[in-house]
Amino acid sequence: MSDLSHIDLNNVPEHVAIIMDGNGRWAKSHGEDRLFGHSKGVDAVRETLKTATELKVKYLTLYAFSTENWNRPQKEVEGLMNLLVLSLSNEIDEMNQNGVRLKAIGNLKGLPEECQESLEDAIEKTKTNKDITLVLALNYSSKWEITEMVKTISNDLVQKEITEKDITDELISQHLTTKEIPDPELLIRTSGERRVSNFLLWQIAYSEFVFLDIFWPDFGRKQFIGAVYDYQNRERRFGLVSEQINIIE
Ligand code: IPE
Ligand code: IPE
Ligand code: MG
Repeated sequence: MSDLSHIDLNNVPEHVAIIMDGNGRWAKSHGEDRLFGHSKGVDAVRETLKTATELKVKYLTLYAFSTENWNRPQKEVEGLMNLLVLSLSNEIDEMNQNGVRLKAIGNLKGLPEECQESLEDAIEKTKTNKDITLVLALNYSSKWEITEMVKTISNDLVQKEITEKDITDELISQHLTTKEIPDPELLIRTSGERRVSNFLLWQIAYSEFVFLDIFWPDFGRKQFIGAVYDYQNRERRFGLVSEQINIIE
């Protein structure tokens, strides 16, 4: 399914989050090295962003580098950081032409200086764009984010800036790195793995999951539209029973 005829454009998720997995295995299956797989992954990012804009998705969050990924061989980590810097500078013009605002979540201060600078530059140069927000999760770990939130809230409590009654789920959401971003309705993971790998644990409380048995470089417009179609054919019950949702008003 590569056309939009089966898609209800009034029921497209506002926020799609993607765990872009399988670059290494894609490369291996093509007799290439892992870094080649990662650069093919950037092509898939470009197509995914274009499709998200076409579908009028408002937020696209891509898991690009986890805190755990630092433990990979140094050569791969360096290659990924270089690819980030290169891709950001290559894509700024296109992002501006397509109304893409860039954001980043994660422990950004832990990234190499050069990455932080190119991120800040791209975020600054795209900050007034309004069609879609691309959120890159970099040096991101959900447990890190939750730990930081607990530290900040406990400090506010100790300083008596808040009382226990102020601690609500909204307050918690406001202290996560995703504070200005609605929770994703749809989470996609490629590569056949069926796990969350420390990604947006709080935010995906009611997300629909689509797991695809293809490697990230093979993900494109067709697969994205297919995942949205799958999403639209599910009943999101939020704890209710089916009859409550299907009441015709
Ligand atoms: C995802 O692909 C990209 C990153 C984690 C940076 P992988 O590099 O994890 O590819 P596989 O899972 O080893 O095939
Ligand atoms: C998850 O992929 C992180 C990113 C896509 C950046 P991993 O390949 O690191 O996840 P695991 O190790 O298979 O859980
Ligand atoms: Mg992987």
